[in-house]
Amino acid sequence: ASAIVLNEASVFSETTHLDTGGLSRESFPEGFLFGTATSAYQVEGMADKDGRGPSIWDEFIKTPGIIADNSTGEVAVDQYHRYKEDIDILAKHNFEAYRFSISWSRIFPDGAGKVNWKGVAYYNRLINYMLKKGITPFANLYHYDLPLALEKKYQGLLSRNVVKDYADYAEFCFKTFGDRVKNWMTFNEPRAPEPYIVAHNLILAHATAVQRYREKYQEKQKGRIGILLDFVWYEPLTRSKADNYAAQRARDFHVGWFIHPLVYGEYPKTMKNNVRDRLPTFSEEEVKMVKGSLDYVGINQYTTYYMQDIGPRQPQKDLSYQQDWNVGYVYEKNGVPIGPLEYSGWLYNVPWGLRKALLYIKERYGNPTVILAENGMDDPGNVTFSKGLHDTTRINYYKDYLLQLKQAVDDGANVVGYFAWSLLDNFEWRLGYTSRFGIVYVDFKTLKRYPKMSARWFKKMLTRKKH
Ligand code: NOJ
Repeated sequence: ASAIVLNEASVFSETTHLDTGGLSRESFPEGFLFGTATSAYQVEGMADKDGRGPSIWDEFIKTPGIIADNSTGEVAVDQYHRYKEDIDILAKHNFEAYRFSISWSRIFPDGAGKVNWKGVAYYNRLINYMLKKGITPFANLYHYDLPLALEKKYQGLLSRNVVKDYADYAEFCFKTFGDRVKNWMTFNEPRAPEPYIVAHNLILAHATAVQRYREKYQEKQKGRIGILLDFVWYEPLTRSKADNYAAQRARDFHVGWFIHPLVYGEYPKTMKNNVRDRLPTFSEEEVKMVKGSLDYVGINQYTTYYMQDIGPRQPQKDLSYQQDWNVGYVYEKNGVPIGPLEYSGWLYNVPWGLRKALLYIKERYGNPTVILAENGMDDPGNVTFSKGLHDTTRINYYKDYLLQLKQAVDDGANVVGYFAWSLLDNFEWRLGYTSRFGIVYVDFKTLKRYPKMSARWFKKMLTRKKH
């Protein structure tokens, strides 16, 4: 019978799978930053305390049956109080940066107007502590958590009104925290909400915030600003022209939807062809503002899907976003395509997809400065403490992906930082606390933190050679 291991020490005395695959801190260029990422709602807690207004997620979780374990972000992992411990863990494991997000409704409980100074004070404490510990802050202004008040007032992201309210909020953050925060990101994975009108407003909100930053703050504060885009790599199933085109459509609809306008001032051709008059257009004035509104881009990359052509597009009355892609998904496992894809496939470990994705961004979008802003894997389904800590699968995932990242960098991709998702097990949205992405295990009852084996792996890999 296998022994049940109950404490951290005995778990790690079993084995030392800390092979870095030849990787070390010196495998990456000087100045390359390693960090971990989280978001406000997933870790902070204090969702209805210290003056924070509700966000659309506080409302959404009330829908019966919507969250796997019926949990909420009310307490999350209490980073609001435990931020020092978390930053200490980060620093102790040789990381240099922390990507966090600011909760809009903690700063502006009503989305606009009145400021909640307690919220401001919290982010000041967090940022100041990072700096004290030599950790570079990467602040993301929006991680799915629109103030509920704006949803009620004008349907939130569906309304053009959000552009100004967002830009005002962003400007407040530049003004308040920008003396210390030099790395800004406007939105995380803006693709997640419903389509074209929302995305259009998000792009305009992004560009307006970037314009304000550049006009009023950037020169003095000497920072940079960008956006965070998720990017599944889409590989054609066969070498046929049709499958190639299907994969290209998928890339355009996924990452091109945002990066194409931000780099070239217009939506990708494949989108224009397939969406036609349901796709909004940018006015000449807007093109000027949107085009080039990136100092750097964050790419969240986890997995790869094979794509295939599914024949001519059927005329449909009720056109949905996915139908507009007109592609077939095929599952990939251990290099062997199997299909069709049910939505669960994103955990597949396809390291070469990361390299292809990064080289694609380099070639298609003029080699922008990139941070690999999220990468990692979860333990689904309530793993035990012992199994959770002994995360050799995750170590292999990180090792394989980082080897491919190094290759992409060696091949000229301008990647300047890497962020593991996530520092801590946390509130994984609709999966609640049933899915653990952390390199640090959190006991959700006591909120105690236990660095997993993967955290030790990073610590070893990131140790600088003494000269
Ligand atoms: C995407 C999101 O940015 C983050 O909030 C989420 O927890 C991870 N990826 C994992 O699903």
